[in-house]
Amino acid sequence: MSEFILETRDLHRRFHMGGGLLQKQSTIHAVNGVWLQVRRGETFAIVGESGCGKSTLARLLLRLIEPSEGQVHYDGRDLTALPAADMRKLRAELQFIFQDPFSSLNPRMTVERIVGEPLSVHTTLSGAERRARVAELLTRVGLRPEHADRYPHEFSGGQRQRICIARALACGPKLLIGDEPVSALDVSVQAQIVNLLEDLKDEFGLTLIVIAHDLAVIRHMSDRIAVMYLGEIVELAPTETLFSAPRHPYTQALLQAIPVPAPGARGARTALGGDIPSPANPPPGCKFHTRCPHATELCARERPVLSESAPEQQVACHHWRTIPAPDATALHIETRSAAAERRFALFRAASAEKTIHPNKEKANDHA
Ligand SMILES: Nc1ncnc2c1ncn2[C@@H]1O[C@H](COP(=O)(O)OP(=O)(O)OP(=O)(O)O)[C@@H](O)[C@H]1O
Ligand SMILES: [Mg+2]
Repeated sequence: MSEFILETRDLHRRFHMGGGLLQKQSTIHAVNGVWLQVRRGETFAIVGESGCGKSTLARLLLRLIEPSEGQVHYDGRDLTALPAADMRKLRAELQFIFQDPFSSLNPRMTVERIVGEPLSVHTTLSGAERRARVAELLTRVGLRPEHADRYPHEFSGGQRQRICIARALACGPKLLIGDEPVSALDVSVQAQIVNLLEDLKDEFGLTLIVIAHDLAVIRHMSDRIAVMYLGEIVELAPTETLFSAPRHPYTQALLQAIPVPAPGARGARTALGGDIPSPANPPPGCKFHTRCPHATELCARERPVLSESAPEQQVACHHWRTIPAPDATALHIETRSAAAERRFALFRAASAEKTIHPNKEKANDHA
């Protein structure tokens, strides 16, 4: 069995826009030549600014949309070449949690139908068995069996995300992709959901791919991180390496842009200059060169390839060897790490109480 559960090979996705009578046609290259290998059992994170192609990549990974070019291999099978009937069977193993728990649940269905639906599709359980399994799943995600008879609008955001997780777990998935699974939630509820995902990952032997823009959450839960910029992976490294020795100027800028929660902590924060260029008209060469403080004429001309800068660390930058690594104090690594630990320790303690009182969580959600 291969070490990797999921691999992409030169994955591309283009969207063609406009082309009407008065509109000029344009093409957005949302995912541009992505090669990734995700290890069995790891938590793999994908981060980057809004519009860089994270959701498109996530959808391609589970073939929720088709690639323009390239392949996705899952457990040795090329998903992109799989007939629709085989793909349907595989869906039980490949699950997706959406960013917005408010719109991803059908308001007209009870929780029992929502969570039980994949069981009806993929198993031959009787009605009573299915109901028992739904009750078990609800308990496992911190809800109560009697919640099965309620409708989504009766729950808070955090509870709805628990329902989405229960649905994703129903058929024993092997790979779970969360597209910003906590970003629509209040911070305290975010920590509870992150903790829940971590516990479930161990219990169910899952591989998790998490998309997020909150690097503090990512640091807490992921083994490796891929940083995306305008459809391309610009850096990929184990989490601690990425935080302690970021090589790509974009990763460095992202880390420096994290707000520092400690009182009095100030200093070498450099906000990322300029706006992200339009994906319909990206700059030539290195796509980051228009915002990069180290860019040269070479960067404007030639696209750098992702290559190894250290064991397990890859970077796509012509100048990574000569760009000084920012020192830890400039990145507030210590301060941020300690603060994040405190924050999560607090909420880990809160969520240790496995049965969540519905009103308590609802109150937290609107805190
Ligand atoms: N169905 C679509 N049709 C046209 N363009 C699309 C479509 N889906 C995504 N795009 C474009 O592709 C680019 C990448 O979008 P995507 O949603 O993948 O970004 P993202 O990194 O997930 O952003 P966010 O953090 O805001 O969710 C954007 O420019 C977006 O407008
Ligand atoms: Mg997105």
